[in-house]
Amino acid sequence: MPYPYQIQSMEEYQTAWKKSEEDPEGFWGEIAENFLWRKKWDKVLTWNFKEPDIKWFSGAKLNITENCLDRHLETRGNELALIWEPNNPEDHHRLLTYEQLHFKVNQFGNVLRNNGVKKGDRVCIYMGMVPELAIAVLACARVGAIHSVIFGGFSAQSISDRIQDAHAEFVITCDGSFRGAKEIPLKPIIDDALVSCPFVKRVIVLTHTHAPISMIKDRDVRWEKEIHKVENLGNPPCIPEEMDAEDMLFILYTSGSTGKPKGVVHTCGGYMVYTNYTFVNVFQYKPGELHFCTADVGWITGHSYIVYGPLSAGATTLMFEGVPTWPDAGRFWSIVDKYQVNILYTAPTAIRSLMSYGLEPLKDKKLDSLRVLGTVGEPINEEAWHWYDEHVGKKKCPIVDTWWQTETGGIMISNLAGITPSKPSYATLPLPGVHPVLVDEKGQEIVGNDVTGNLCLLGPWPSILRTTYGDHERCRLNYFNTYPGLYFTGDGCHRDEHGNYRITGRVDDVLNVSGHRLGTAEVENAINMHTDVIESAVVGYHHDIKGQGIYAFVIYGGEEDEDDFTRKAISLTVVRVIGVIARPDKIQFVKGLPKTRSGKIMRRILRKIAEGETSNLGDTSTLLDPSVVEDIAKGAIK
Ligand code: PRX
Repeated sequence: MPYPYQIQSMEEYQTAWKKSEEDPEGFWGEIAENFLWRKKWDKVLTWNFKEPDIKWFSGAKLNITENCLDRHLETRGNELALIWEPNNPEDHHRLLTYEQLHFKVNQFGNVLRNNGVKKGDRVCIYMGMVPELAIAVLACARVGAIHSVIFGGFSAQSISDRIQDAHAEFVITCDGSFRGAKEIPLKPIIDDALVSCPFVKRVIVLTHTHAPISMIKDRDVRWEKEIHKVENLGNPPCIPEEMDAEDMLFILYTSGSTGKPKGVVHTCGGYMVYTNYTFVNVFQYKPGELHFCTADVGWITGHSYIVYGPLSAGATTLMFEGVPTWPDAGRFWSIVDKYQVNILYTAPTAIRSLMSYGLEPLKDKKLDSLRVLGTVGEPINEEAWHWYDEHVGKKKCPIVDTWWQTETGGIMISNLAGITPSKPSYATLPLPGVHPVLVDEKGQEIVGNDVTGNLCLLGPWPSILRTTYGDHERCRLNYFNTYPGLYFTGDGCHRDEHGNYRITGRVDDVLNVSGHRLGTAEVENAINMHTDVIESAVVGYHHDIKGQGIYAFVIYGGEEDEDDFTRKAISLTVVRVIGVIARPDKIQFVKGLPKTRSGKIMRRILRKIAEGETSNLGDTSTLLDPSVVEDIAKGAIK
């Protein structure tokens, strides 16, 4: 069997979970034996959640790319590692075998070294969904540099904030990328971002759209020219840097309840073991199968289940550049048929959006290669679940609803495809190594079944975040301080009578818009950057397709009319400051905000108004001026 740790039955799942509880070190130590280590660990696990200080596989040495590439060369060197489907179905797709991907990662690793990148350096990657993005990520890992991928939808300001926070002296980008009918300029955005990052030494630019771009002397170089230099040297191998299991592998910025995104840090050993283990078990991957995760590598899902999880398992991973609805809403289904995809892993938002086009785009699509379907990123409503099951999976494919977070690195709660039962809208059971705990507001554990509370996790799993870059205290306060002794997820959760978990959504001030995570404070800060905005408050509301939409209440002090023109100006400000993903759906101008005497905005009331409720707004007696509520309710946008 290629994966001796692949769970084959419900009983095996129960045994594995129990063993992981009783003897986590024995459990994970045994699984870790299946990887390529330059040196084995001295100790599987040391930890405390107080500081927090968490170490997996201490003393072990490895390079994750030897596990993702080199070790497969002998057994499956000629098999496909990566398939790339371009935005425009008429353009050429690309196929890379393990041997070819290995070659390209070596080449680009040498490019990085030639350009001065060393172990521990931070490299910011801002590219479209091209194969070179995966190559750049792996090349960083090969030379021991810490990659920080930034999603293509972020603005120059957001990029600059992240580059500064990580003090990344190297940037890898593209001239531009394609998204449906649109061409997105990436290099010009990087140019704007770098105005405030003079410490950046080198920008490597891949040619993709062939758009004219500026190239700054002594800073910017072309990817292709740098590759030629390596070719002229005869393509020497790129010796992998020997990394400690606890050396940083990457930083990925994500939003929290405060205004500033935080750099979640993952390390080499534990992340590798956990993403591989969850990939193999949740999707029940069988060698030779094709795995299509539709996420962007700019998010954790792309890191873990397009790149590291599948490649470390020797799988074939499919990377797609475009959008699900262009040239038509049958795009995903055409890709499934074209390449004979076996596992399709996507977001509920995409499913809901495709559902809205009806069944026409599914006509003439066979979809008979599909074996497993997955969802990630947000709660899936039952209607979307059944549609996915019936029209995509033809009721033959188990659906895995995978709950996890940027901070958890890999899937935490999910059924195992075809092995443990699914239940619509439930992520179901914790993976081995994962111990969910529900607590009430006071931190008391809620025991028993058929209960609801805040979701925490007891004890560490191998890919738990280790810190937030440059600010360890922030990591402690954010995740380990609310309920001492536990990791707090920020999610609300229901446990049913059989012990299945259903994630009900965030209980903190974090929004989940189309599966993209945004802090309300972050959006408010951006709105408040508009010159005439006095104050604002942002809440989420139910949105049929996006899951949540952004509803902004704005006190406007300008001379312009409070009309759509002004709304656009405010929206554009948000797009400039954060990026297109944070554009408010609704902006309501208000005279005042419901504040308590201590100045705290009562979001509970605003949330109700945003959901369309205008009476029964609850107790408003503690408000400084209860009359504002009436005014706001009257002006609510439907
Ligand atoms: O609220 C949960 C929701 O997405 C949050 C994590 O967002 P992010 O770090 O961007 O990672 C998304 C991809 C792993 C969680 O706190 N979430 C994620 N998966 C699910 C989910 N909510 C319900 N069901 C899920 N399967």
